[in-house]
Amino acid sequence: MRAAILLVLGLVIGVIGTVFAMNALKQRNPFPHAVMNVMAHHAGELRGAIKAQKCDAVQTREHLTRLLSTSSDIVPAFPGVDQPFVDEAHQLQTRLDAAVQAAPADCAALAAALKPVGETCQSCHQKYR
Ligand code: HEC
Repeated sequence: MRAAILLVLGLVIGVIGTVFAMNALKQRNPFPHAVMNVMAHHAGELRGAIKAQKCDAVQTREHLTRLLSTSSDIVPAFPGVDQPFVDEAHQLQTRLDAAVQAAPADCAALAAALKPVGETCQSCHQKYR
């Protein structure tokens, strides 16, 4: 009798454990968070440069290029999203591409180039985050 109870208890704990582990795995898919955090890092560096009024053209270009290349990972990082989400992601790419092309040489130019980019981050977060 005791052995049977222990056996059933073991099974129940095993099932609960598996469900917890599966939920944790689902929530912890690191890819979407990684993509967003890498973008946040580069956007943060650029914002910091503007705040400090130290906008080096070479560093600006590096961060904008990294933002652009990372933004192309958004759609693969969120499989099964709907078309408006994909459109937002593409809009971000288009705007980042324009920012890279603009090659901002000072803080005023960088701020102007970043504005439409920040608006797209915000717009998508309002709808999907
Ligand atoms: C196409 C839609 C979309 C765009 C554009 C977008 N994001 Fe996100 N972002 C999301 C979604 C969805 C989440 C929530 C992800 C989750 O919790 O699984 C998110 C979450 C985040 C997070 C939190 C990450 C974490 O670890 O939970 C940060 C930081 C972030 N985004 C930064 C940015 C920045 C910076 C930009 C612009 C350069 C940007 N995002 C553009 C959709 C977008």
